[in-house]
Amino acid sequence: MTICTAQLIYFSPTRTTQRVLTGIAEGIDPSDVIHLDLTPPGVQGRTFEVGTETIALLGAPVYGGRLPKVAVERLSRVRGNGAPAVLVVVYGNRAFEDALLELKDIAEACGFVPIAGAAFIGEHSYSTEAMPIAPGRPDAADMEKAVAFGQQIRQKLAQTALDRLPPPTIPGNYPYKERKPSTETPPTPITIADLCTLCGDCAAVCPTAAITVGDAVITKAAACIQCCACTRACPTGARVMEDPRILRTAAWLYENHSARKEPEAFGVGSL
Ligand SMILES: Cc1cc2nc3c(=O)[nH]c(=O)nc-3n(C[C@H](O)[C@H](O)[C@H](O)COP(=O)(O)O)c2cc1C
Ligand code: SF4
Ligand code: SF4
Repeated sequence: MTICTAQLIYFSPTRTTQRVLTGIAEGIDPSDVIHLDLTPPGVQGRTFEVGTETIALLGAPVYGGRLPKVAVERLSRVRGNGAPAVLVVVYGNRAFEDALLELKDIAEACGFVPIAGAAFIGEHSYSTEAMPIAPGRPDAADMEKAVAFGQQIRQKLAQTALDRLPPPTIPGNYPYKERKPSTETPPTPITIADLCTLCGDCAAVCPTAAITVGDAVITKAAACIQCCACTRACPTGARVMEDPRILRTAAWLYENHSARKEPEAFGVGSL
């Protein structure tokens, strides 16, 4: 198959998924790379079409062993039109459980033809300087593996016609792992008024439009998905996640899931 375009289609609040997809696209080496970023709230409810001679790279982070609900809603509105798809989940060094299988099922339902999958590691959204969890990942070694994965995909498509490629075997279970039930008071970051300059950077990166900045920073707790994009984006350290439930989870991850895990690929050779 001639690949003219790689279309990177992703939900990525803290940008680790986006970075991994960029590395994979570099390895595929198409003539053109285009991005469909499903992270901003403006895409909610919109539908998108994938063109011909395009390979799609579908990416999302792992939340609780699944895909984030909002990512599922947004990915489900992309029409694949028979394009080959590479499925990628990025997780914070704990586990990816049923997320990659969920992504494969969504891709098929949208009319893509999954040809390979991978799980990469990204710095955990709850990672801090005091409790680092996969800090700095994807790092240089991960990015080399992302490029190598892309090169394997390129070879695979050059050697075999798309309709003769066997579907990749993707790990995961049915039924998928249950999502945590939502609570009446969802954890959400707070703003330290003395440090806040009302610059609006936090609101600009929030994938669910949960933040409004006027005379103060107001957060709609019910819309918050705990992605920590706002705390990462805040230039003054005013935006912090201090909810004890998140801090307890972060401490548990730091204690139990600090040992380095490596990316895994499915449907191509090992990385
Ligand atoms: C609400 C929430 C749940 C998460 N659940 C998991 C998980 O089950 N396993 C894991 O290893 N990482 C988990 N993570 C970490 C993210 O998968 C990881 O930080 C990923 O790199 C974020 O991707 P992004 O940078 O594209 O937003 C979770 C993060 C959040 C915010
Ligand atoms: S990014 Fe930080 S400083 Fe800027 S408005 Fe948000 S909390 Fe305030
Ligand atoms: S308010 Fe919640 S959803 Fe919005 S960026 Fe911050 S953590 Fe993410």
